[in-house]
Amino acid sequence: MATLIKKMIWAPYSHLIDLKLLLLPFQELMLRIFLALDLLPGQKVLDAGCGTGNICSLLDLKTKGTVFFTGIDASESMINKARAKNLGQNFSWQIADLNQQLPFTNKSFDRVFCCHVLYNLAKPEFSLAEFHRILKPGGILVVATPQTNNPMAVLPEHFRQIFRQKDWPCLKKTCYSLPWFVLLAVYNLILSAQSTASKDFFYGEGELAGILAKANFQVLKIQPAYAGVDILAVAKKGG
Ligand SMILES: C[S@@+](CC[C@H](N)C(=O)[O-])C[C@H]1O[C@@H](n2cnc3c(N)ncnc32)[C@H](O)[C@@H]1O
Repeated sequence: MATLIKKMIWAPYSHLIDLKLLLLPFQELMLRIFLALDLLPGQKVLDAGCGTGNICSLLDLKTKGTVFFTGIDASESMINKARAKNLGQNFSWQIADLNQQLPFTNKSFDRVFCCHVLYNLAKPEFSLAEFHRILKPGGILVVATPQTNNPMAVLPEHFRQIFRQKDWPCLKKTCYSLPWFVLLAVYNLILSAQSTASKDFFYGEGELAGILAKANFQVLKIQPAYAGVDILAVAKKGG
């Protein structure tokens, strides 16, 4: 039942999620994910809980179409939008539930990343073990996950960066988008209420490091990100 509610809740979110792209701290987070992944041509990368495929789009731009991306998400609406945006031959999109065994053989990916998803899963430890299973030895996992239940806490830092960089076009776009941000805030309140009901996982650094180690990952780096809202972890599967 809780799983069904979660699936239903993500479908309308697919119409709002691209607003995140406007946020300067999110742009910075995507760049940090790109750097942490340390991608090489020909590598196979899994975006676990890909949403509308925005991070893959950026990574593809950075790697000039030389990397193969697979995006999975439980929401059909998210997957349809991701597919419509990313038409290259090096993309593959499929519906899959991260609470279940993943539809991939052992050691099939060089890199896995999972942004803003882990907190919402039924058994994060199980999903991390699945990431470990499908990674090749020496493969890298990058996880960004909120440590608080208040994603809007990123907005003050967004405005601080706009004024620091005198990014007036971004200020204008943000102002035009304010009604949508209000809708997003309301939507986040609904998500929060649902989260409290279904016990989401907001890990601190120590806790995230602990469950990564339990899944047999070697933690390479773990630090705050996304204006302190997230923890960003980089971990390696032993070779
Ligand atoms: C906040 S969005 C993040 C999307 C994307 N990673 C990003 O950062 O833009 C969370 C995503 O996780 C997906 N999701 C939630 N639970 C899931 C599950 N059990 N299996 C697969 N995807 C799931 C949702 O459908 C949604 O697209």
